[in-house]
Amino acid sequence: MAAPGRVTPRQVADSFSGRVGVYVHVPFCAQICPFCPYNKVLADDGLARRYFAALGTEVDDLVAACDDAGRVPFTSLYIGGGTPTLYPDALAALVARIPVTGERAIEVLPTHGTRAGLDRLAALGFSAVSVGAQSFHDDVLRRLGRPHDAAAALAAVENAVGRFTVDVDLIVDVAWDDDPATAGAFLTDLRTCLALGVDQVSTYPLMRFGYTPFGAARHDRDREHAVLRAATRIASEAGYERRSVWTFNRVGATSYTSITRPRFVGMGAGSASFAGRDFWVNHFGLRQYCESVESGRLPIARWLHLGRAGALYDSFWQAYAGGVDLRETRGTFGAVPAGVLRAALALLALGRWLSPVEGGYRLTPRGFDLYHDLERWVTYELIEPLWAEMLVEHPWAEPAQARRSHVWRVARAVFERS
Ligand SMILES: C[S@@+](CC[C@H](N)C(=O)[O-])C[C@H]1O[C@@H](n2cnc3c(N)ncnc32)[C@H](O)[C@@H]1O
Ligand code: SF4
Repeated sequence: MAAPGRVTPRQVADSFSGRVGVYVHVPFCAQICPFCPYNKVLADDGLARRYFAALGTEVDDLVAACDDAGRVPFTSLYIGGGTPTLYPDALAALVARIPVTGERAIEVLPTHGTRAGLDRLAALGFSAVSVGAQSFHDDVLRRLGRPHDAAAALAAVENAVGRFTVDVDLIVDVAWDDDPATAGAFLTDLRTCLALGVDQVSTYPLMRFGYTPFGAARHDRDREHAVLRAATRIASEAGYERRSVWTFNRVGATSYTSITRPRFVGMGAGSASFAGRDFWVNHFGLRQYCESVESGRLPIARWLHLGRAGALYDSFWQAYAGGVDLRETRGTFGAVPAGVLRAALALLALGRWLSPVEGGYRLTPRGFDLYHDLERWVTYELIEPLWAEMLVEHPWAEPAQARRSHVWRVARAVFERS
């Protein structure tokens, strides 16, 4: 089997079966938020020119290979960051290179959610936007070190509603609820979103990645559950349903999905691709990313060959979105993984965390609570250690401060191809 740096576009394309979405990462931000664990760098025009040239090459190579393998047009496009709208001309050129039949979604920093900015996104064919409001309280935004105020967050949401499928990201740190300056801010923010008629509200518990200036994790599990339960009640009274662990959707509205697309090919520094049995991660560092592409290779830095264990990864993200369809698991991974999974899920159904539906299971309210804890565990045991290793490629990170995880070490030893 080839080393990650020798994987060819055709190999990636051939690993997929069925529908494929595209994820593109734009890692530039005008200002860095101290809580943010994602792959990003301070914007620099020279670096951006080099990056977008390399990204264009990676996109063209993967699109051509996927075309040869019969996977084009792609079913969806998701552009995340960083701040994907920071270089609008480069963004337009990028979108034009990627043939997509379905939804085009993009993350929008509030200060870029002006009428003119959103007009431009609509003209590029974007049908869904996620506004990174985080809060409509200036005290909370200051604590988060955000580069915008509450008025900008509100204006961006108002400008977007009715034109796109609109998701609004809110961050909740229950510890801040003890502080009179920010007490109750999150539930008030949720009510604001519901009153504005957004399609979806994503309510992310603040995750503290050890390598960010916010420092290592501390969570009050019981209070997080209580706050999410209160959010579920408030949302339901306003005609919204809890459609995934951390999202509330207007009943009947389209979901805005980022992390739950079933199969996706990633392009750009720090992006990942998931083909069911294989998981690839691109270089995080922009220099390493550009050098790989410029020397004629895919910028893949890590390769986890999950094999049939991919069924576990797959069902984990299906469950985030509310349920597991075992027919899909059987179709992709075969009868044995689907059978093992069915037995495990049946046990969870006995504990009333799941309820049976046609073809699989759905999470019950108790199940959403359990999943919330599981997601936090996965974040700190698997995602943080992987990203910390990848972020070594950046000068800004402090990977030594990241959480150590035996679980990640075992997963790496079992699945990684080097
Ligand atoms: C890629 S990020 C941000 C997109 C855009 N640059 C912005 O800031 O608006 C997508 C979302 O992840 C969430 N997020 C970022 N850091 C987080 C953290 N440490 N814990 C929980 N959620 C986080 C935020 O809600 C954010 O809007
Ligand atoms: S939260 Fe958004 S704007 Fe802030 S550093 Fe992260 S990607 Fe950039």
